[in-house]
Amino acid sequence: MTGGLTSDSATGARIARVGVVGGGLMGSGIAQVAAQAGLDTTVRELTDALLARARDAITRSLDKAVEKAKLTNDGRDAALARLTFTTRVTDLARADICIEAVVEDLDTKNALWRELHAIAPPHTIFASNTSSLTIAAMAAASGRPDRMVGLHFFNPVPLMRLVEVVRTITTSDDTFGRTMELVRQLGKQPIVARDSSGFVVNRLLIPYMLDAIRALENGVGSIADIDTGMQLGAGHPMGPFTLLDFVGLDTVARVAEVMFDEYREQRFAPPPLLRRLVLAGHLGRKTGRGFYDHSADPPTPSNLAL
Ligand code: CAA
Ligand code: NAD
Repeated sequence: MTGGLTSDSATGARIARVGVVGGGLMGSGIAQVAAQAGLDTTVRELTDALLARARDAITRSLDKAVEKAKLTNDGRDAALARLTFTTRVTDLARADICIEAVVEDLDTKNALWRELHAIAPPHTIFASNTSSLTIAAMAAASGRPDRMVGLHFFNPVPLMRLVEVVRTITTSDDTFGRTMELVRQLGKQPIVARDSSGFVVNRLLIPYMLDAIRALENGVGSIADIDTGMQLGAGHPMGPFTLLDFVGLDTVARVAEVMFDEYREQRFAPPPLLRRLVLAGHLGRKTGRGFYDHSADPPTPSNLAL
């Protein structure tokens, strides 16, 4: 056994150890589902406080799964036992795959890939949970373009079954095959997306969310009525403003910038109101306020002085 690989050769070996970089909204969910699937999982964050936040988020979610009879107490305990939390990048050196879920910024992601390439064994796959950045832009910087792939989970990761698998022109067949096998091992449904900004779902979903903000700016309806309209009229589980606050307005704004830069189409342009909310630090559920004031139960629409 070398570096966590099973008895097979390095090529085609099943993934046994997972590294997750970034323990925020998405990284904590990815780490949870990997641990629940029986994989030894190491979470790396920047500080001990952020690690504690990640650990608490995962524990709360596992407890809810037990409460909802989706997981046994033993299953929860076994998942927690498979999780390691660290601030040291070097602790990821035994991972068979490193999945990054850090801020949606190419320079940050590429600095991380260079750091990881220096310590990870040659067989380790690098996978990005990016919403919109092209995998080709990371492959070039990663030092291992054949082992670079997109692995786009959806929020909340424990509940959303879809994972978009994105192979770029340099991704090897072995990397692609092992990544598809991992997605199924995690109990998720893969779809294969071309390496174009936003892949499949965000190509459609981001303009929808941005158009809801433009409708609000243009007085088409109130936050509550537009949300109710899409829930009761189109069967969406969350209206667009609830979803925007759920995803995080900083993430949506960054994704919109990247997609607008790629396609230069108005539908991807971040609306002024979105930029103002991000500048004000109102990022949605994660800061307690965005299009809604989440300190109230149920959350109440924010007065945005439109
Ligand atoms: N672990 C396991 N199961 C859980 C759980 C947990 N922590 N919490 C709840 N559950 C179970 C519940 O038992 C329930 O199961 P049943 O249906 O069998 O009873 C189910 O999960 C739903 O749970 P809830 O009733 O508590 O939740 P809900 O019905 O209010 O649905 C939701 C919550 C699934 C998030 C739903 O509101 C939804 O699908 N919203 C839309 C989310 C979405 O669009 N995500 C994509 C965002 S965009 C993105 O991610 C891409 C990007 O790059 C930005
Ligand atoms: P987040 O802000 O909740 O978490 C990002 C985390 O990365 C933060 O905790 C930050 O401390 C950490 N981080 C930053 N640099 C790091 C580094 N060098 N090493 C370790 N940790 C580092 O963001 P998020 O919503 O989880 O999004 C993360 C990524 O996932 C983004 O690329 C985003 O586009 C993508 N994504 C987000 C969603 C969503 O709904 N929020 C859905 C799918 C994909």
